[in-house]
Amino acid sequence: MAFTDTYGIKPDSDAWHVPQNYDTRFTWTYSDDRKDLLGLYAKGKQKQWDAEYRIDWDQEIDWENPQGMPNELFVLNGWAPYEKMSKGERIELRRNSQAWGLSQFLHGEQGALICSAKIVQQVPDLEAKFYAATQTIDEARHVEAYKRLLEKIGLSHPMTGPLKTLLDQVLSDNRWDMTYLGMQVVIEGLALAAFAGIRDYSSSPLAASVNAYVMEDEARHVAFGRLTLREYYPQLTQKERDEREQFLVEACYHMRDRFEQRELWEHMGLDVEDACRHMHETSGARQFRTHLFNRIVPVVKDIGLWGPIVRKGYADMGVLDYAQLDIDAMQANDEAVAAQFDARRANVEEVAAIAAE
Ligand SMILES: [Fe+2]
Ligand SMILES: [Fe+2]
Repeated sequence: MAFTDTYGIKPDSDAWHVPQNYDTRFTWTYSDDRKDLLGLYAKGKQKQWDAEYRIDWDQEIDWENPQGMPNELFVLNGWAPYEKMSKGERIELRRNSQAWGLSQFLHGEQGALICSAKIVQQVPDLEAKFYAATQTIDEARHVEAYKRLLEKIGLSHPMTGPLKTLLDQVLSDNRWDMTYLGMQVVIEGLALAAFAGIRDYSSSPLAASVNAYVMEDEARHVAFGRLTLREYYPQLTQKERDEREQFLVEACYHMRDRFEQRELWEHMGLDVEDACRHMHETSGARQFRTHLFNRIVPVVKDIGLWGPIVRKGYADMGVLDYAQLDIDAMQANDEAVAAQFDARRANVEEVAAIAAE
């Protein structure tokens, strides 16, 4: 099913063209000394899965609450105009907000598909090209999975401005590490935190399992960014590292704005400024906004971009303390949770088979 009639807010056009200006690099050395990247490549090959079969797409979703999220976690919960709406209006608003959020996952995954393909072309080492090739197929699968989930809802929305700005910046930059920094560190780091919210709080087994399986792959993608950049950044000058730190701070502000859903509130006829004020000021929504950075900050520290620019930027955003988190433990947990989802489904199918005998 093509997304032509499903858009609630109509996109400006059917496609987005981003001019490119970088060298595609061949390598004749066929080097194989980056054992860490080759290990990740081996894991990437072994952990391939098929979204068609691993996920039970026959599961129904709740039309009123397709992502199965508790009302208390809705960003406008407690906002006086929302509380005064009729039940039908509240359902419509939440349904649109969930479709909007899921659409950002879908478009972001398409961005990841394109960025990983760009890395295949541009990155100097063959070991990194190999790994990025496995990431490219992972991202295609993620686009497929989120598209199917959105098809079930029957409603989608265009890419939001702040995400588009950041993607445009990342794709237009001709320095290969900037693609990693924007995509593997910032966009994917933020996506991981958002996916985890659905995986861990959704009452919909379908929505939860899609996010759990995508997260299992994303753990490798973030590891790829860490392994590559950790090696590369000490070789740069302080001025070059400072430029990257400046970019990271600005990118994080863009990403925080990406969750404001301004165009959706406007489309739904709400008072946009007041809705955003509510999201900035209520403690639950504020917590959500800072929590989104719990995957990014420890990685930024790990890759060695931890100078005064980044530390001040993150202190101002109130997210500096996340630097203490153990990113390896979080990634190991993402893989373990995906395995639990597999076990649960196997169990359900076993019980159903016994019942049918
Ligand atoms: Fe992805
Ligand atoms: Fe990814």
